[in-house]
Amino acid sequence: MVNLDNDRQVHESVLSEEVIKALGLPAHLNKDDSVDKPRYIDATLGLGGHSVEIIKRGGKVLGIDVDENAIKIAESKLKEVLRAKSLTGLEACPTPYQDSKEFFTLVIGNFIHIDEIARSYGFTNVDGILFDLGISTPQLSSSTRGFSFQNKAATLDMRFNPKVQGVTGFDLLNSLNKRQLQELFEITLPKYISRKLAGEIIDRRRQTPFKTVGDFIGVIVKTVHGKEKINIATLPFLALRIAVNSELVNLKESLPRAFSLLKPKGRLVVISFHSKEDVIVKKFYLEKESDGQAKILTQKPIIPKDTEIHRNPKSRSAKMRVLEKI
Ligand SMILES: C[S@@+](CC[C@H](N)C(=O)[O-])C[C@H]1O[C@@H](n2cnc3c(N)ncnc32)[C@H](O)[C@@H]1O
Repeated sequence: MVNLDNDRQVHESVLSEEVIKALGLPAHLNKDDSVDKPRYIDATLGLGGHSVEIIKRGGKVLGIDVDENAIKIAESKLKEVLRAKSLTGLEACPTPYQDSKEFFTLVIGNFIHIDEIARSYGFTNVDGILFDLGISTPQLSSSTRGFSFQNKAATLDMRFNPKVQGVTGFDLLNSLNKRQLQELFEITLPKYISRKLAGEIIDRRRQTPFKTVGDFIGVIVKTVHGKEKINIATLPFLALRIAVNSELVNLKESLPRAFSLLKPKGRLVVISFHSKEDVIVKKFYLEKESDGQAKILTQKPIIPKDTEIHRNPKSRSAKMRVLEKI
């Protein structure tokens, strides 16, 4: 169930100002109507926070998200922004609100199909593409979707879009063999812990199959031990979510497709939250640069300032890399 009013308040977009600069947008609205609007693809629309900032500066957005709920929340937020003349900080917004299509088009879809989606909406030769990976706060804090270890009674589902994805988190725990489970957890955990966790999962499911978040926590507490600041369940939950949603494969496949949609001087901006994602992005950027097709604009990734991390601790692992097409 989507609660538009609550959900859209709670996600704070990461590296917001830095994203605008990275996409090559002006700091303020370009009021010259004779100039065509620059066009951007927000491949991970989420709650639309970054897209709002793009539209406020005169950009036109194709927003994609695999999660139907996210699209509903973002649509309501973007329409409100276009309608509002007096919302704090939005005075520069193009008003009056007439035809939202002139400013944005939203599509429920997986960014692995970014090229097909973009072509069918005429978003080729675009000025920039943003991937802000991972999940949004409403997804994480949902009491029913199973992304968080806080809601023990929730079903361990973890699918971004249950209408099109068949396999849940509990399905994977109940059906993968020991070696496959071990590999799944090695995405975020050391080998020896992954092996122990895989063994514990096999033992437990012989008695009762996995179904809830609490069931998974039950095996985690037996095998994973405390590490400084983060909850012991964080990394096993992250690994399972990455597997349920094929997140690394989606990213790897979509980067070349996204790159093909950029115009010369167009920018590809990726914010990642995990080292395995960052490695994929870095490798792709280096390949494009060494082929002479692009220039890397961030020799080191851009990370949030201390003030942002203090305000929004979830931003602490964000790394942003920017590539410009030649
Ligand atoms: C961190 S949130 C984006 C937040 C957004 N930038 C904002 O400012 O509100 C990441 C979003 O990416 C979406 N997502 C993850 N994998 C996706 C995929 N393969 N295709 C499309 N959307 C995806 C998630 O559903 C989630 O809404």
